[in-house]
Amino acid sequence: MTAKCTCRSQSWYIVFISFLVWFTLFYLYSSSITFGKKGDSFLGNNQTGFVASTEYLYDVAIDETGTNSSHVKDVEDDVKKPVDETENKTKPIKFYNDRDIDVDRLLASLMPHNNEIETFKTISSKLLEEELRNAKDYNRGRRGRAGRTRRRSKIKPAAALASFIGQNVVKPESISSPCLGRFVFIHDIPRKFNQDLLDNCQSLNVWTNMCESSLNLGLGSSLPSKENLYSKTGWFSTNQFLLEVIFHNRMKQYKCLTNDPSLAAAIYIPYYAGLDVGRYLWDPLGFRRDRDAAELVEWLAGRPEWTKMWGRDHFMVAGRTNWDFRRDPENVSDWGNGLLNFPESKNMTMLVIESSPWNNNDFAIPYPTYFHPSKDDNVFQWQNRMRRLKRRLLFSFAGARRPNRDESIGNEIIDQCLASRKKCRFLECDDQSQRCYKPDNLMKLFQSSVFCLQPPGDSYTGRSIFDSILAGCIPVFFHPGSAYVQYIWHFPRDYTKYSVLIPASAVKSGDANIEKLLQRIPREKRAAMRDEVVKLIPNVIYADPASKLETIEDAFDLTVKGVLDRVETIRKQMKDSKEVNSEFAEQESWKYFTFGRVGGHEWDPFFSSKLGKHGT
Ligand SMILES: *[C@@H]1O[C@H](CO)[C@@H](O)[C@H](O)[C@H]1NC(C)=O
Ligand SMILES: *[C@@H]1O[C@H](CO)[C@@H](O)[C@H](O)[C@H]1NC(C)=O
Ligand SMILES: *[C@@H]1O[C@H](CO)[C@@H](O)[C@H](O)[C@H]1NC(C)=O
Ligand SMILES: *[C@@H]1O[C@H](CO)[C@@H](O)[C@H](O)[C@H]1NC(C)=O
Ligand SMILES: *[C@@H]1O[C@H](CO)[C@@H](O)[C@H](O)[C@H]1NC(C)=O
Repeated sequence: MTAKCTCRSQSWYIVFISFLVWFTLFYLYSSSITFGKKGDSFLGNNQTGFVASTEYLYDVAIDETGTNSSHVKDVEDDVKKPVDETENKTKPIKFYNDRDIDVDRLLASLMPHNNEIETFKTISSKLLEEELRNAKDYNRGRRGRAGRTRRRSKIKPAAALASFIGQNVVKPESISSPCLGRFVFIHDIPRKFNQDLLDNCQSLNVWTNMCESSLNLGLGSSLPSKENLYSKTGWFSTNQFLLEVIFHNRMKQYKCLTNDPSLAAAIYIPYYAGLDVGRYLWDPLGFRRDRDAAELVEWLAGRPEWTKMWGRDHFMVAGRTNWDFRRDPENVSDWGNGLLNFPESKNMTMLVIESSPWNNNDFAIPYPTYFHPSKDDNVFQWQNRMRRLKRRLLFSFAGARRPNRDESIGNEIIDQCLASRKKCRFLECDDQSQRCYKPDNLMKLFQSSVFCLQPPGDSYTGRSIFDSILAGCIPVFFHPGSAYVQYIWHFPRDYTKYSVLIPASAVKSGDANIEKLLQRIPREKRAAMRDEVVKLIPNVIYADPASKLETIEDAFDLTVKGVLDRVETIRKQMKDSKEVNSEFAEQESWKYFTFGRVGGHEWDPFFSSKLGKHGT
C-alpha cells in the first residue's frame, strides 16, 4: 500500500515534468516552423540574437520493455527517420533558437535569474538530476507492468530528458540560449549620474516641475481618463526629457540581462545625460555644463569593461537632441555641453531623440509619447480605434510663429493653414497659455486630422511627429532630416507609404500649395497610408516599464536590436582589423546609415548646410 502510494506521487511528478518537456520540445519545433530556418527573422535581419544554433537535443524513445530504442527528429528537415541501429543510439535533433518569444518566456519562467546560462547550470544540477532519478524509478515501475502498457515506442519526454542528461552527451551549459548574442550588461555607474539627479528633481529644470514628470518610472502622472480621447489605461502626462529614465527602467526589464560583462553583446550606461545638462543649459558659467559628462566618460574609460572594445560596445541614451551635446570645444559660449564630442563618446553609440546627419556616433530613437500600454491588447484596441476614426480636417498644424527666424518655414505654413479655412486647423503654441503642451489639445487635434504638418522648428524633429503617428494622423514632412534619416530602426525605408514629403524650399518659394497637394492624394491612397501609420504605432511607443508586452516590439525593443546590430558590425570590423566606420566620410553618415551606401543622392541639397544649433 505504502509502496503504491509513493509510486503514484512519483507518477504525478513525472506527468508534470513530461508536460513541461513536451511543452519545451513543442515550442522549439514550432519556432523553427514558424520563423523559418537558420534563425531568419521576419524582419530579414539575422545579425543579432538570431543564433543559428547547431546545438543538439536528444529525443530518446523508451519502449514498453524498458529497452532503449530511438527516434530521430531532425527539425531542420522536419522529417522523422528511424535510427540505424549501428549508429549511435541517439541522434541529434537540430533546432534553431529563433527569436521566438514563447521560448524566451518559457525559459524565463524556469529561471530565477536573468542570466540564462547561469540558470541552465542550475537546472542541470538540480531539476534534471532529480528528473533522472525519477525516470529511473519510472522505468523500473513500468517494467513490472509491461503487459498493460500501450503501444511500442511511445516517446516519454521525461525519460528522454533523463537520458539526455544521463548520457551526458551535451553539456547543459553548451546549449545555446535564445539570449546568446543579445545579452546586455548594465554598467554600475556612480549614483550621481542617475539616481541623485532624480532625487534632486526640483533643481533639474528652471521651466518645468521634473518631480511630477519623474513619477511612475519616468512616465509622469496618469492622465485623467477621457473616453473620447484616450483608452482607459496607459496614458500619462509624459515629459520628453524623461526618456532616459523610461529607457533605463525598461532596460531593467530586458529579458537578456547579464551580470557578467564578458558575456554581454553590449554595455548600457544608465547615465541621465539630458537631465544632467538640462540643469545648466542657460547657465552663464559654461564649464559647469561639461563637468559631470567629462567625469563620467573618464570613469568609463578607466573601467576594465572599456578595454575589451575601446568602448565600442557601450551605449547610452540622452533624452534631448544631439545639438544639446555638441558644443564646439573651442568655444565656451557655444550652446550645450561637449558630451558627444569627447573622444570616448566617439567610440560609443549615443542614442538621442534627434541625431546629427553629419556625425557617426549618434542614432535617433523616438520621442516618448503619452501612451505607455502595459498589455498587447491595449495597443491593438488603440490601433483599431485610430483606424476607424472619422477625421473632419484635411490637415492641421501645432506650432508657433518665429519672427526672427528667416530660414524657418513655420510662418508660411501657418499662413497657408489659416488660408485653408475649414480644411486646416492651427493650434498656436504660445508660451503663456501652454496650449501645445497639454496632451488633450494635441491628441484632439491630431485625431481629427487626416494629415499633420511637421515642419522643422528649432531643430529638424519634434515630439509631435510621434504624437501624430500615435493618433493615426499621416505626417507631412518638409525635410528628410525630420524623420527619414533619423529613426532608421523604427520607420520603414519606403517613406512614401506612410508620409508625404513637400520640400521646404518649395513652400518657401511659394510653389507649393499644401492644401492642393494634399487634396490631390486620392481617398484610397490616404486610407492605405493611414493603415501604415497605424501599423507604426507599436514602433513609436515605449511600453510601461512596470509591466511587459507579450508579442509587440516597441520603440525600446527596436532600439536595443538596432544597437546590437551596430555593435555586431563593429565587432566584426575590429576582428578583421578594419578601421571602424572607415567605409564612409563622417559628414555622409546620414546617407550611409539610411541607405547603406554613399554617392550622389537627390537629398544632397537638403544636407549641404547645417541647421543652426538651438535649444528648447
Ligand atoms: C543572413 O546571414 C547570411 C549568412 O551569414 C547572409 O548571407 C545574409 O546576407 C544575411 N541576411 C541578412 C538580411 O542580413
Ligand atoms: C537506456 O539508456 C540509458 C542511457 O544510456 C541507460 O542508462 C539505461 O540502462 C538503458 N536502459 C536499458 C533498459 O537498457
Ligand atoms: C556517437 O556520437 C559521438 C558524437 O557525435 C561520436 O563521437 C561517436 O563516435 C559516436 N559513436 C558511434 C558508435 O557512432
Ligand atoms: C561661439 O558660440 C556662440 C554661441 O553659439 C556664437 O555666437 C559665436 O559666434 C561662437 N564663436 C565662435 C568663435 O565660433
Ligand atoms: C577608440 O577606439 C579606437 C579603436 O577603434 C582606439 O584605438 C581608441 O583608443 C579608442 N578611444 C578611446 C578614447 O578609448
